[in-house]
Amino acid sequence: MSEEIKEVQEVQEVQGEEVHIDLEIANETTYTDFISKFGSSKIDEKLLKRIEEVTGKRPHRFLRRGLFYSHRDLVDILDAYESGKTIYIYTGRGPSSESLHLGHMIPFIFTQYLQEAFNAICVVQVTDDEKFLRDRNLTQDDTFRFTKENIKDMICCGFDIEKTFTFIDSQYISQLYPTTCRIEKEISVHQIKKVFGFDDSMNVGYFSFPPKQIAPSFPTVFPHIFGMYDPKDVYCLIPCGIEQDPYFRICRDIAVRLGFNKPALIHSKFIPSLRGAGKMSATTGKEGDTDKTNSTIFMTDTPKQIKTKINKYAYSGGGKTIEEHRKYGANIDVDISVKYLEVFMEDDDELERIKTEYKKGNLLTGEVKAILVKILQDFVLKHQETRKNITDEILNTFISVRKMKLD
Ligand code: TRP
Repeated sequence: MSEEIKEVQEVQEVQGEEVHIDLEIANETTYTDFISKFGSSKIDEKLLKRIEEVTGKRPHRFLRRGLFYSHRDLVDILDAYESGKTIYIYTGRGPSSESLHLGHMIPFIFTQYLQEAFNAICVVQVTDDEKFLRDRNLTQDDTFRFTKENIKDMICCGFDIEKTFTFIDSQYISQLYPTTCRIEKEISVHQIKKVFGFDDSMNVGYFSFPPKQIAPSFPTVFPHIFGMYDPKDVYCLIPCGIEQDPYFRICRDIAVRLGFNKPALIHSKFIPSLRGAGKMSATTGKEGDTDKTNSTIFMTDTPKQIKTKINKYAYSGGGKTIEEHRKYGANIDVDISVKYLEVFMEDDDELERIKTEYKKGNLLTGEVKAILVKILQDFVLKHQETRKNITDEILNTFISVRKMKLD
């Protein structure tokens, strides 16, 4: 892409009006609209091939199945990696609850894959400040507790202890601060309001937080890791959900002015709640959806709970009766078990077989659910087993300021 066209696009990234992404009703239209509205690019077959070529590894199933589906400048990162430049991966988590659910694990699983594929340093920001500031009912004791628990869940995803630095905003603020100030100086209140949709009634913390999430996109926040490099020689890649993009649109807008490379991004969709994908509001709400926990699988659930939730609540695209199902087959586009299999089943051929047979009516909803139940039970149990071995000492190592293995 010519520099000129790129510049025009960048301007649009920031000037576009904010879409407020309602996670409850996000559907395929939300995701395609996001790309066209904010000028990101779709991850297509050609790019998947290129990722495979550069990393020497099959792209993660989240990429193959289109869960991480959009990007900004990913090609530049691949080129940089190929020519031996230093790259790092930056992601984060807002500690808003104690026990994580399946959806919370997606970015961590994917970030760990990226770390391995690119043999890269990974920095993970835990925004205890953000969650405290935005939730009237949360105390700092709450966010501190969630922080520790959430980091343990993150570690379980297999991050390399020699290449992963986790930092908690309230503790790491002295290193975060100088770069944050440089960023604050470049952003007007007007811009923050427009991009995030903030209004004058919101507490000041809403306005002061975004620069703190932008800062780790720049290597100067980590002098103990990148201190000996010229910041211009370091490239950052950020995997995140589309709702985090506003931070990084602003970031990319000011990066070059501050003497940094623009970070590249990979955006993900959300996984739907058990009761329904996208706009199927008939399934949410109808029965008085007061008990949200029924439509969510937590990483602390027992095998039995997982089985019950899926069997009882996972929205089915199958026929109303067995006869109807055998005759017309399932609507796999709205079927939640299929959606979850697309995310959690590794085997492409087996997945295709299930989808084809289910669509034809040869497989019943109950049979598809049984396959999913087994996969999720195994996944959650394995996580729980790993988590038992994550001691406070391991956790403290991940959050300690220390030398990293840079090769
Ligand atoms: N704001 C994010 C959240 O609410 C946390 C976060 C901080 C993050 N830095 C990030 C997410 C970088 C993705 C990438 O969960």
